[in-house]
Amino acid sequence: MKSLRLAALLLGATAVLGTPPLAAQGETAVASRPWMVSTLSAERRAELILAQMTIDEKIALLHGPMAMPFGPYEMPEGAIGSAGHIPGNARLGIPSLEESDASLGVTNPMMVRGAEDMSTALPSSLALAATFDPVIAYKGGRMVGAEARAKMLNVQLAGGVNLLRDPRNGRNFEYVGEDPLLAGVMAGESIRGIQSTGIISTVKHFALNGQEHNRMTADSVIGEAAARESDLLAFQIAIERGDPGSVMCSYNLVNGVYGCQHDWLLNTVLKGDWGYKGFVMSDWGAVHELGAFTAGLDQQSGEQLDKQVWFDKPLKEAVAAGTIPVARVDDAARRVLTAMFAAGLFDREPAKEAIDFLAHAQIAQQEAEDAIVLLQNRNGILPIAANARRIAVIGGHADAGVPSGTGSSQVTNPWREPGATLRNVPLGGEGMMAAWSNVVFHPSAPLSALRERFKDAQVSFNNGTYPESAAAAAQDADLAIVFVYQPSGEGSDAPSMNLPLGQDALIKAVAAANPNTVVVLQTGNPVNLPWAGKVGAIVQAWYAGQRGGEAIARVLTGEVNPSGRLPLTWARDENQLPRPVIPGTGAAPDAPVKVDYTIEGSDVGYRWFARQRLSPLYWFGHGLSYTSFGYDGLEVKGGKTITASVTVTNTGERAGKEVVQLYLTGRPGGSERRLIGFDKVDLAPGESKRVTLTADPRLLADYDTGRSGWKIAPGAYEIAIGTDAGTMITSGSARLTAQTLRP
Ligand code: BGC
Repeated sequence: MKSLRLAALLLGATAVLGTPPLAAQGETAVASRPWMVSTLSAERRAELILAQMTIDEKIALLHGPMAMPFGPYEMPEGAIGSAGHIPGNARLGIPSLEESDASLGVTNPMMVRGAEDMSTALPSSLALAATFDPVIAYKGGRMVGAEARAKMLNVQLAGGVNLLRDPRNGRNFEYVGEDPLLAGVMAGESIRGIQSTGIISTVKHFALNGQEHNRMTADSVIGEAAARESDLLAFQIAIERGDPGSVMCSYNLVNGVYGCQHDWLLNTVLKGDWGYKGFVMSDWGAVHELGAFTAGLDQQSGEQLDKQVWFDKPLKEAVAAGTIPVARVDDAARRVLTAMFAAGLFDREPAKEAIDFLAHAQIAQQEAEDAIVLLQNRNGILPIAANARRIAVIGGHADAGVPSGTGSSQVTNPWREPGATLRNVPLGGEGMMAAWSNVVFHPSAPLSALRERFKDAQVSFNNGTYPESAAAAAQDADLAIVFVYQPSGEGSDAPSMNLPLGQDALIKAVAAANPNTVVVLQTGNPVNLPWAGKVGAIVQAWYAGQRGGEAIARVLTGEVNPSGRLPLTWARDENQLPRPVIPGTGAAPDAPVKVDYTIEGSDVGYRWFARQRLSPLYWFGHGLSYTSFGYDGLEVKGGKTITASVTVTNTGERAGKEVVQLYLTGRPGGSERRLIGFDKVDLAPGESKRVTLTADPRLLADYDTGRSGWKIAPGAYEIAIGTDAGTMITSGSARLTAQTLRP
């Protein structure tokens, strides 16, 4: 009886499109749907179902619309409502794909799932990178995956890992900084966390998608070795660690070819050299021709945004005409199905689940607390003295909350504690992105968090609109804290590194009135700090997420000892950048624009500064603490790679976390600067820990295009422990043997 019911369920009860049957155990079921045996490998199950599929059914898996009402298009039937939808197959019990953005939380674009559907908003990914803590990345990813699953979504369009090549890029807040090791590890762990909940994650945007100016027409020009050693290496590491079910290709061109029809990137590098078995999905509106399919793109996403749904009728016609082999359709469908089986999508009935928002807010808060970077602290002005009597809080909507980045990744409807209201500051703009361009202030107000902690003091608030009145408010205070922000988001870059909205003038006026001024930066990027010499402390709080106000207050008061480190190099101004003017400035929106990455090549960020002997304002890896750390006992081993051990000691009076950073500083060919290992350690006052770091040999090598592999020259390799990429404090060296490693 039981097996009959199960068979009926499997064979008949899948009338609702996209509803998968439960995993089968019974004999009838096994006979009719052998791919439902969950003990078989994902690859085997994909093979079994593929054998039953018609060409139409295969092609149906390879394209889909946006999952929201858009222009003349209605919400696709059966879609839950999110960024994208690939319909399921009732005959075979294939669940639909319900694709949602992104790394910072589960989005609800245009409230498509209703205004009551909220999500936890993590800090920006750049903030995550500043934690230098892969465990936090994993936990945050797991939280995002759990919320996606609770909403019956099953693909998270997360894993942004494009290297920060320009500090004006509007989307840097969605990425994980300038270094391939740090970025690859942090994105990889976040993806691993998401997928641990049975959700498919992407890694994106493949590749070299380094700016938003003319993002559909910008051509990233770079040599093969430089690409492999920088941006592609970040992807490679993220894929190795996270094993994402999907890779999202990018809008831009690379060396003259669109990212989503780039045979070399998709077929040669990703699927060939790296042996990637998942599927490549397009970015929304990034497909220009059917040729993309042969070039390695497996799925056309957000298809209404393209000129044509290439991966439907035109694909079928090409197969019928014999210009595209059926084997390639099988390959693409196999890739999609394998990722679905691996995530367990065939083995569970999607069901709405309750979300423990309080527990998730804690995860967001811990991430923010570990991410905040203390950039400057003159005369130990921070932490705020417990006996401060008058504190003037100024600007940045600090009475309402903390800002977030805009665009498709924005959690527009963050979960809020009862009574909390959302402040939205519209940015206006034109076109599709305008709908996503309100700056949402997550309702976690630094002002109330500070008032909570200084109950007996007078904590005033001035909104900072008029520098004169803000200065008057600061004048008589023990301490002035100026909150400033930079709106930043998808679809546009900052035109310069200057803080907008007259905030430099505000800081100058306040600092002139009271030298005990603390500036809290809430930005998507590094910005020019022309007043740095005039203020006491500078705190980089990034976009701090759901509990940002609380996290900032805890760092300012010393309840939390700051331990964030910069995942980027902070230029003194635009003139130090490889491209002082961002390419595309002044160009028509659809004009072709060349973005010349051959200037810095693989020397992104600190490597550029080291190569050019430039001194930035702050190096990659910089960040102060309320305690101090010392290092001794460095030991280095060579051979096939470098292994270094060092003892780190908390030499101060407070507990604190240190990021141990191991750099390559020289090789047989000359001087070099590369992060080759890092670890974050938590130390009580006086406590020591021995840390051992082993370099991924690719970080010591050069990519040799002649031999198609990573080449390590034999000889002495110089390494050092640095407190940032420009400040080495203890060094050593070891000999490596000659090697060539596969790409
Ligand atoms: C973005 C992607 C995003 C997609 C779906 C595009 O505009 O570039 O990152 O995943 O939209 O919302």
